[in-house]
Amino acid sequence: MSLLPTTYIAQIAQHEGQEVTLAGWVYNKTEKGKLVFIQLRDGTGAIQAVVFKKNVSEEAFTAAKSLTQESSLYVTGSIRADERAPSGFELDVKDLRIVSLTHEYPITPKEHGTEFLMAHRHLWVRSAKQNALLRIRHEVIAAAQDYLNSNDFVRYDTPILTPVAAEGTTNLFATEYFDLGPAYLAQTGQLYVESGMMSFGKVYCFGPTFRAERSKTRRHLTEFWMIEPEMAFADQDDNMVLQENFVSAIVQRVLERRRDDLATLERDTAALENIKPPFPRITYDEAVEMINTAAGSGVTVPPEDQPLPPIQWGEDFGSPHETFLAAQFERPVFVVNYPTEVKAFYMQPVEGRPEVVRCADLLAPEGYGEIIGGSQRIHDVELLERRIREHGLNPEHYQWYLDLRRYGTVPHSGFGMGIERCTAWIAGTRHIRETIPFPRQLYRIYP
Ligand code: 4AD
Ligand code: MG
Repeated sequence: MSLLPTTYIAQIAQHEGQEVTLAGWVYNKTEKGKLVFIQLRDGTGAIQAVVFKKNVSEEAFTAAKSLTQESSLYVTGSIRADERAPSGFELDVKDLRIVSLTHEYPITPKEHGTEFLMAHRHLWVRSAKQNALLRIRHEVIAAAQDYLNSNDFVRYDTPILTPVAAEGTTNLFATEYFDLGPAYLAQTGQLYVESGMMSFGKVYCFGPTFRAERSKTRRHLTEFWMIEPEMAFADQDDNMVLQENFVSAIVQRVLERRRDDLATLERDTAALENIKPPFPRITYDEAVEMINTAAGSGVTVPPEDQPLPPIQWGEDFGSPHETFLAAQFERPVFVVNYPTEVKAFYMQPVEGRPEVVRCADLLAPEGYGEIIGGSQRIHDVELLERRIREHGLNPEHYQWYLDLRRYGTVPHSGFGMGIERCTAWIAGTRHIRETIPFPRQLYRIYP
């Protein structure tokens, strides 16, 4: 026995003129005399099923009339091409069987506030826009992994429970680890993935990462997914070439395979067609100058049209700065060589200019901010140990990481791309909280 339908709505075109059984949920229902129109969704798409009293049993017609939003059912009928239908097809129903009749589904077609929808996130994910957005997330992840897999990168999974900090000590989630003291949820897999780079040459890790950040911006989650490639015998220039090819491949694949979902979200795709290598590169120094020149002449930045604040050399950029910088370019822009002070301990200093490091943040266009952070790593054991100390960290805890520089060290580079930031940009969704099924934020852990 099988409970599966004979096909799915996404494959409906191959069944024109045939009889099929679909299984799904009622999105909407309308009645007109002897006709019941069911908007049926099955997860792969939506189709209108037309129940004509004369074509079905008395029981089936009564069942059709009783259907409510989000009731689950099987429908059997023949597929007919119909130019007016959004999917291009309709189903002429011959039989219908209710699996479960739903009463008072909380999310109705009328408008609901974001707070209400977020509190019903477990149900909200069924709606057309959320479905489209989460399918784009799926495509971003699949495209990212496929790109790396087909370019000789080996997936190398890194631990989530870790004994020390990797990206600064101010935003760690801590827990007690039996008799061994505190453990921290990983902020990044990078340090561990570097060990795999010494075994395989090219590796990546992919998994959830955690930051106990007290920020409420639309770009921050406390739990987010990051994909982190790492390459041996590669400098920061090689790193950026990989990044621009990687990001372009992801965008082009979403355009190729998820046009319908982008249309559901009313995403303007013209801006995405443009995303091809090479991406522009500017230095942090140049960026500071651009910002201060614009701030001096009263430039404002979206979404609230706040005045662009000036910046001192040595400070990290805030959201308005990133938004302004990205708006100057049609493609994502690399900002390179940030001040050593504002970046992590492991970054390679620029030769002859130790106050800046060989790193880049990749800023997405249209105000989506930093989607990638990456750098060349220090490969010299003494310099790395000194930097660990300067950051107030205990070198004893990093002996295994220093070992990677003691035995066959090589220049190497890597980066991390946040899946939610990337998805928000590609899908054109202002707030990243909708790009993950269950967002974790400062004031949100339910459901
Ligand atoms: O720039 P970050 O902190 O870099 C690292 O963690 C490096 N260890 C990565 C590496 O070189 N292997 O974070 C990388 C990316 C950011 O560009 C952003 O896309 C995402 O991770 N990210 C966040 N996404 C959502 N919420 C947050 N709180 C995020 N923090 C970083
Ligand atoms: Mg960063």
